[in-house]
Amino acid sequence: MNILVIGGAGYIGSHVTREFLDLGHKCTVYDNLSSGLRENLFAEAKFVHGDIHDYQTLLNSMKSSAFDALVHLAASKAAGESMLNPEKYSRNNIAGTINILNAACEAGIKNIVFSSSAAVYGEPQYLPIDEKHPTLPENYYGFTKLEIERFLGWYDKLKNIRYASLRYFNAAGYDVKGRIKGLEQNPANLLPVIMETACGIRKEMQVFGDDYDTQDGTCIRDYVHVNDLATGHALALNYIVKNNKSFIVNLGSENGFSVTEVLETAREVTGKSIPAKVSERRSGDPAKLTASCTFAHELLGWKAQHSDLKTLIKTSWEAYSK
Ligand code: WQD
Repeated sequence: MNILVIGGAGYIGSHVTREFLDLGHKCTVYDNLSSGLRENLFAEAKFVHGDIHDYQTLLNSMKSSAFDALVHLAASKAAGESMLNPEKYSRNNIAGTINILNAACEAGIKNIVFSSSAAVYGEPQYLPIDEKHPTLPENYYGFTKLEIERFLGWYDKLKNIRYASLRYFNAAGYDVKGRIKGLEQNPANLLPVIMETACGIRKEMQVFGDDYDTQDGTCIRDYVHVNDLATGHALALNYIVKNNKSFIVNLGSENGFSVTEVLETAREVTGKSIPAKVSERRSGDPAKLTASCTFAHELLGWKAQHSDLKTLIKTSWEAYSK
């Protein structure tokens, strides 16, 4: 298939593009490089240096080739920042996606895979979280992702655009074949923060609270390898094209690891001390978040293969220690 990957120079976007290319698909990456990196681009994929706010460029790109589908991974994704600067998230995540949807209608692109997030669920009412769990986002980032899912539902109904909305849990790790090297800039997520501390970019990291109701007092999260996420995108695209049917699905490992477990395993794998200090809780952090991926398994035959803690950390360290 001929696929337009919007945000394809980003951390997840580059792994998704690599997966599509490995499967023999033709890819065009559309990215403004605001957080995506040129070094994440592949020679086999055409690159358009464009912004999703630039409707005309976006539309011209969509019309430049007979695209079978687009994958939309271009968004701001820091939950904490979204509470301090909601305007940025309204603009990038909501207005940007409306541009993409309207340009897709004009260009006749009928299949969309959308990068959503477990943040749509908010505070867990039960665990593991399945797709029937109430969606009550606690941060503006999660709100934007949920609202976009609602737009997609309407465009399915009114414009026959079929979509797959993939609710990622905590994306982590790097390409198991070491082909992607671009490091996220100023990351806030646990794994890259640990990696930056391990290689001395940061002097010390903070553990945001150790008084949660978990076995060691630190928060538990469902970390899913970015190669597993990429496979999920390919299976999801095949499904909507083949069945002409939209769906929403969780993508997680179904395992939960605490901050302490991740930190200890990182010290073991890297051989580095990784200085860490326990500080105040970060507001909005639930004690535990783990996914049920029964639906992804039944619908797509998808199951995380590389999301064990050792692989997540080993592949991350291979990228950071270079
Ligand atoms: C994980 C755990 C922190 C950094 C966020 C978004 C979510 C998704 C993934 C996009 C938490 C602790 C972290 C640090 C720490 N993004 N931590 N010290 O908050 O689970 O989810 O990223 O889809 O939408 O909300 O991920 O990696 O920030 O935190 O102690 O320096 O690590 O408190 O318990 P989170 P995270």
